[in-house]
Amino acid sequence: MSEYSLKLDKFLIPLIANLINPVILELGVENGISTKKFLELCKINKGKLYSVDIVDCSKVSEDKNWKFIKTSDDNFDFIKSEIPEKIDVLYIDSLHEANHVKKLLYGYYHLIKKSGFIFIDDISHLPYLKNKNRNNFYCEINNKETYDMLLSFYNENYEKIFLNFNFFSSGLAVIQKNSNDPLSNYNNIKTREFSLKNLFRRFFSKIKVS
Ligand SMILES: C[S@@+](CC[C@H](N)C(=O)[O-])C[C@H]1O[C@@H](n2cnc3c(N)ncnc32)[C@H](O)[C@@H]1O
Repeated sequence: MSEYSLKLDKFLIPLIANLINPVILELGVENGISTKKFLELCKINKGKLYSVDIVDCSKVSEDKNWKFIKTSDDNFDFIKSEIPEKIDVLYIDSLHEANHVKKLLYGYYHLIKKSGFIFIDDISHLPYLKNKNRNNFYCEINNKETYDMLLSFYNENYEKIFLNFNFFSSGLAVIQKNSNDPLSNYNNIKTREFSLKNLFRRFFSKIKVS
């Protein structure tokens, strides 16, 4: 079993296994690993899965509980016209770039039912560092930016959502909607990491050690 498959089995599916008649929106199908897992759940719990990809992935399954939509996942008006008004689960596994993921969060958040979930794959840069086996500049930088963006997203919306990070393999972020209030505007967190005060703190703690 691949790490990716194991990650979904251990850290995603158990969180939604008890949903009755779930409506799931999946962004990014490719070979359909996640699609097939969601469809298994839909079969047991009498749910429906709507999956979006820019590439034609319609051959992945013939399941009657599945609708494939071939378009870009930020084609919001078109996708909303193809899916129910409210959804229980949003799975984001398409273009792993922070600005794109942010756009998807703001574009779909209002469709999620209270207590519903948003899962975001690929939030850990650790396996992609230069000295690691997956060594990959694009994934390292984009996953780190996505992780930082999610922290800022949480910082503005901590009263409305729960956020958890899982760092197994390339990571998975889990957001659960805790309120029907709309999202606050996005702002990057302003930390004091690069302040003069912290520069002095680091300088003097080095002197103390040496
Ligand atoms: C990592 S793969 C998805 C893997 C899939 N979830 C699985 O379990 O096998 C990413 C997919 O996202 C699709 N994709 C990339 N950018 C997209 C976009 N803007 N809109 C829709 N699909 C996109 C790619 O065509 C690719 O099939």
